[in-house]
Amino acid sequence: MLHMAWFVGQGYSVHGWQAPWSGRIDLEWMRPDIYLDLARALDRAGFDYIMLEDGLLMPDSYGGTPEWFLKNAWMVPKADPMALVPLIGQATTRIGIVATMTTSFTPPFTAARLGATLDHLTDGRFGFNIVTAHNERSAQNFGLDEHYEHDLRYEMADEWMDVVDALWSSWEDGAIVADADGGTFADVTKVHPIDHAGRFYKCRGPLNVAPGPQRRPVICQAGGSPAGRGFASRHADTILARYRDADAAKTFRDDIRARMAAHGRDPDDCKILYLMTATLAETDDLARARFAHQGEEVAANFEHKLAFMSYASGKDFSKLDLDAPLPEIRTNAAQASTKALTAGSGKTLREIASENASGGFDFVGSPDSVAAQMEETARAIGGDGFLISNPLTRHAVAEVADGLAPALARRGLLPAATPATTLRQRLRAF
Ligand SMILES: Cc1cc2nc3c(=O)[nH]c(=O)nc-3n(C[C@H](O)[C@H](O)[C@H](O)COP(=O)(O)O)c2cc1C
Repeated sequence: MLHMAWFVGQGYSVHGWQAPWSGRIDLEWMRPDIYLDLARALDRAGFDYIMLEDGLLMPDSYGGTPEWFLKNAWMVPKADPMALVPLIGQATTRIGIVATMTTSFTPPFTAARLGATLDHLTDGRFGFNIVTAHNERSAQNFGLDEHYEHDLRYEMADEWMDVVDALWSSWEDGAIVADADGGTFADVTKVHPIDHAGRFYKCRGPLNVAPGPQRRPVICQAGGSPAGRGFASRHADTILARYRDADAAKTFRDDIRARMAAHGRDPDDCKILYLMTATLAETDDLARARFAHQGEEVAANFEHKLAFMSYASGKDFSKLDLDAPLPEIRTNAAQASTKALTAGSGKTLREIASENASGGFDFVGSPDSVAAQMEETARAIGGDGFLISNPLTRHAVAEVADGLAPALARRGLLPAATPATTLRQRLRAF
């Protein structure tokens, strides 16, 4: 069976602007409805979670000004996805809700308190997607001239996570007595300071709210560099990875599982979900025609891909020669994503940017044949599931929730029924 999730890759933003099926974006773009519709449909379809991306910057790495990003509504505007979490929680009963939190600019106490609060409000269906934030401009919004060095960010994140975990453990089970007759709500002997004083953080504790149903909200992570893998293998319950080739995806999975075992963790306690897109239609031929049509649009709008590369790497791709082979890009920003997006040795930048490829698995066909392709790919990798990264429109949601998901269920790849449990229990059910 597969674990399935949906990646809201632009976060709480504008989706499918100018694309067909985008709805009344002029009226709706700040409304929560698209996320509620997405979550309800996927809840019904048997998905494990939705993941809300986030960033804390006005992007300007493409062309050196925010102009392209603002004009195209790409990665900006962006509102705080945490505010959507309780709304989605109220609209659904089973699906998990994962929202992005950055370790580099958030005090551990603030994050631990928010995580506990949202875990209560969602009945234990909340998760943090932990990022170190890769963009220089984010750092400059939080008092730094330049961002911390890439691997140092993960060293900080490691200690940050330890502090947050200690805060979530600062209330023992049974600390809330709620004994109105006896006159005790909480038992002071079961609530403890953490007195953390480390290399980067100092925090006294205890947390001033009892932990939620999961105690520790699910921890999701998506950094694929060696330092990112080190972090993920210590802390993550679920990992998101971008590969377009099953062998490379398997190598990644084997590496994470070996690292987890080395940390004394059971490798089955972390589910790795691979990014995929699904181009669906009634028949394989129609789907292929649709993919070809998308390909023409991607080639005509190749600046979009250049801007994405600039966003992930912090390098200005508008300055590079479009018709020269693309050199290897080194970056202090998002290393694994940059590598996936710029892959294509010997090809020119124009060729790479014009390619209709998401950087993850791009499946094309009828719902049944995409389900078969997913099964074959997951078997080759060894597990655990996929993260749909189709651009968000209600049309795309219906295709996946009402077309692909039933096809997966017919092959026995989605659970027949999903009881209401915590997100962690759900991830560990198989
Ligand atoms: C599926 C996916 C989702 C991601 N979501 C976010 C996000 O919401 N915010 C963010 O700052 N980075 C995001 N990233 C980037 C990574 O979390 C990570 O910060 C970045 O890749 C740098 O880590 P690395 O150098 O270890 O790869 C995402 C990456 C992937 C593959």
